Amino acid sequence: MNGEPIIDVHGMTKRFGDRTVVDHVDLTVRAGEIFGFLGPNGSGKTTFLRMLCGLLRADEGSGTCLGYDVIAESEAIKREVGYMTQRFSFWEDLSIAENLDFVARMYDVKKRRQTLRESLEQLGLVGRKDQLAGQLSGGWQQRLALAACLIHKWDEIHRLAGEGLTVLITTHYMDEAERCHRLAYISYGKLLTHGTVDEVIGNERLTTWSVSGQDLPELTEQLRQRTGVEQTVAFGNMLHVSGGDAATLEQAIAPFRTDQYEWHQVESGLEDVFIHLMDNSKDNSS
Ligand SMILES: Nc1ncnc2c1ncn2[C@@H]1O[C@H](COP(=O)(O)OP(=O)(O)OP(=O)(O)O)[C@@H](O)[C@H]1O
Ligand SMILES: [Mg+2]
Repeated sequence: MNGEPIIDVHGMTKRFGDRTVVDHVDLTVRAGEIFGFLGPNGSGKTTFLRMLCGLLRADEGSGTCLGYDVIAESEAIKREVGYMTQRFSFWEDLSIAENLDFVARMYDVKKRRQTLRESLEQLGLVGRKDQLAGQLSGGWQQRLALAACLIHKWDEIHRLAGEGLTVLITTHYMDEAERCHRLAYISYGKLLTHGTVDEVIGNERLTTWSVSGQDLPELTEQLRQRTGVEQTVAFGNMLHVSGGDAATLEQAIAPFRTDQYEWHQVESGLEDVFIHLMDNSKDNSS
C-alpha cells in the first residue's frame, strides 16, 4: 500500500479528568487501505476515532485527516467522514425515513429528498421506511445505522468504493481483523503494535504449542505454574500454550508430553498475540 496518507496523526492524547485514555498515539492510514484498529474493551478505540472524526477535541496531538488539520479543522472533517458509531442512537418514535431525514438535515445534505430515496433503496429499507425505529429488530437497526452514516456522502461513497475507499474499522472479531491490510493494537490508551497481520504476529516473537487430551483444565492449572509458560488460551477442545522464550517453554511442557496428550508446535495466531500484548500491558501499568 503506497497511496497518499488519508489519516496521518501524531501524539494524539485524550484525558478525562486525571485519566489518560488515549496516550500519544501515532497512526497513518493510506488511501485504499482497510485498516483495523483493535484493542480490548475500554482501551480507547472509540475515543481515538471520535478525535479523528472531529467529534471530540484532542488534548494533545497534531496531524491531518482527509487533508484537514485534526485540531483546527474538525468541523470540516465531521462533514466528510462516514462514521458508524458503535451504538447508533436514533429517535425510537420516529420512522426509518424520518430518522434518515433528520440526519440529512443535520449534515445539510444537498438534494435531500433524492438522497433520502436513494439511501432507502440502496440499503433495502424502502418497504420499512414508515416503521418506527424503536420497533425494529437488532439487525434492521444496524442497517438503519449504516444508512445514517453513509447518507451525507452517498454519491461519493459509491464513486470512491470503486476507486478504493479507505476504511478504518474497529472490531473484536479475529476473522475480521485478519482481513485488514494493516492493523494497530491499543491497550490502556497506548499503541502497542502495528503492521500487517504477519508483521504483528512476527514482532511479538511468541512460541505456541497446541495440546489436546483429557482434562485440559487440570493441565492448564499445572502449566501455569511452570516458568516459561506465559499464557494458556482455550480454543474449543484444544489449549494454546505460549511463551516468549522457545527453549524455556519447551522445557516447561516436557514433563507433560506423555501419551495422555497430543502436542504440536503451531504458528502463533492473532488471538494468541493480542492476549499476550494485553497481559503485558497490564503488567506495565500496575
Ligand atoms: N466522555 C467520557 N468521560 C469520561 N470517561 C470516558 C468518556 N468516554 C470514554 N471514557 C473512558 O475512556 C476509556 C476508553 O473508552 P473507549 O470508549 O474509547 O474504549 P473502547 O476501546 O472503544 O472500548 P470498547 O471496545 O468497549 O468499545 C474507558 O475507560 C471509558 O470509560
Ligand atoms: Mg468502543
